[in-house]
Amino acid sequence: MPRVFVTRELLGRAHRMLGYALGPWDVVAYGEDQVIPREELLKGVAGAEAILCMLTERMNAEAFDAAGPQLRCVSNFAVGYDNIDVAEASRRGIAVFNTPDVLTETTADLAWTLILGVQRRVLDAEQFLRAGKWTSWSPRLLLGRDVHGKTLGVFGLGRIGRATVRRAQGFNMRVLYHNRTRLPEAEEQQLGLAYVDKAALLAESDIISIHCPMSPETRHAIGASEFAQMKKSAILINTARGPIIDEAALAEALHAGTIAGAGIDVFEKEPTIHPRLLDAPNALLLPHVGSATEETRAAMAELAAENLISFLNQGDMKNCVNRADLARIG
Ligand code: DGY
Repeated sequence: MPRVFVTRELLGRAHRMLGYALGPWDVVAYGEDQVIPREELLKGVAGAEAILCMLTERMNAEAFDAAGPQLRCVSNFAVGYDNIDVAEASRRGIAVFNTPDVLTETTADLAWTLILGVQRRVLDAEQFLRAGKWTSWSPRLLLGRDVHGKTLGVFGLGRIGRATVRRAQGFNMRVLYHNRTRLPEAEEQQLGLAYVDKAALLAESDIISIHCPMSPETRHAIGASEFAQMKKSAILINTARGPIIDEAALAEALHAGTIAGAGIDVFEKEPTIHPRLLDAPNALLLPHVGSATEETRAAMAELAAENLISFLNQGDMKNCVNRADLARIG
């Protein structure tokens, strides 16, 4: 019987959807709510026609070999899919799916949580209070910096970048963006933003928020030379993917006061964090929770299941990230 392997227990209706829609298919899930050990993954995928996986699983030639030549699709429980070797999947005719849209607003909310948290030193203030250090209101106590009226620089203007920009309107900000492709002027005007090159984005922004996808081109797009071009008072926010920022260089920039702070939700070698970042000043560090709300994680699980079901049942390629490559390769 054809087999579907799910690498972790799913939220919401997703697992029921799979069982119901695929009927005769053999849907098997790794039973523990933890990252599946590699050996278990390689065993579990054997003979699978479809795999529903998390961003914590490396889906590469080794995993595809372990699955076997009948593997037709990998559905990722994430919008980012840098955990999957898409080129290798395309070569083998395997369709790769992701979960766009459903997490856009939630992730933009978290980018703003970090912006406000870092600029207003929320963590310092809370720790100060809990440590029993608060003796009186004081004019100089825990001074942060304003958010309203500042310049926001968005690096990468996909769905989440745009949602982050929309929220800036309420804060009366000047918004700059840098992206691979420039928007039509009418759309720039409608969104209230201005296109600049990377150097101007770095030099002029008070808050830089990263929203580009992870790729060989964007790896370490922000490193020592970029920090040197930023304002000393600037802060850096990352809710995209860790390796876009050179984490060692970020830690150094924070310790040296090259920039004023950072709000980081994603790291180069999750869950390991550069030790110098852990004790860096004004760094608000979160464990990759950009999309972590009950509503959004359930929606992501359901979309990942839906992608897989409609591909297996109807050959539907909506949300297939390598559709063009598959068509080209034939
Ligand atoms: C994604 O979907 O890529 C997010 O990083 C998951 O939180």
